[in-house]
Amino acid sequence: MRASLLAAMCAVIFAALAPACGGPAAPIAPRFVGIASTHRAKCGSCHAHVEPGEKSREQLERALSRHHKRVRLSDEDWALMVDYLAADARDGGAAAD
Ligand code: HEC
Repeated sequence: MRASLLAAMCAVIFAALAPACGGPAAPIAPRFVGIASTHRAKCGSCHAHVEPGEKSREQLERALSRHHKRVRLSDEDWALMVDYLAADARDGGAAAD
């Protein structure tokens, strides 16, 4: 009993602290974890990565509409990519989950 209680407490403490330890400056909202790795893998080969918060939603939508032939993603993934990268989505995106 004691050991499993201790394990449970450690899990809780770790979950509380993990976002503060290492990784990108801001914790990634759960719904963006997949798109963040797609972004890492596919969006840095032609130019430097455009990082979350750098561009407005309008700039991203305009630029990414020219990218559909450059990068193959589903419509949902393009929408998620804009949400992930748009300056105005950072707080809302994180809070939504
Ligand atoms: C095959 C090459 C290629 C890949 C891969 C690529 N891009 Fe681009 N990207 C370009 C080129 C060329 C431009 C400049 C011309 C333009 O905006 O269409 C550009 C411009 C941009 C811009 C506009 C930059 C500005 O200053 O306004 C954004 C935003 C952008 N890319 C995001 C992305 C994202 C997100 C991905 C991954 C899904 C990606 N790019 C993958 C070629 C690429």
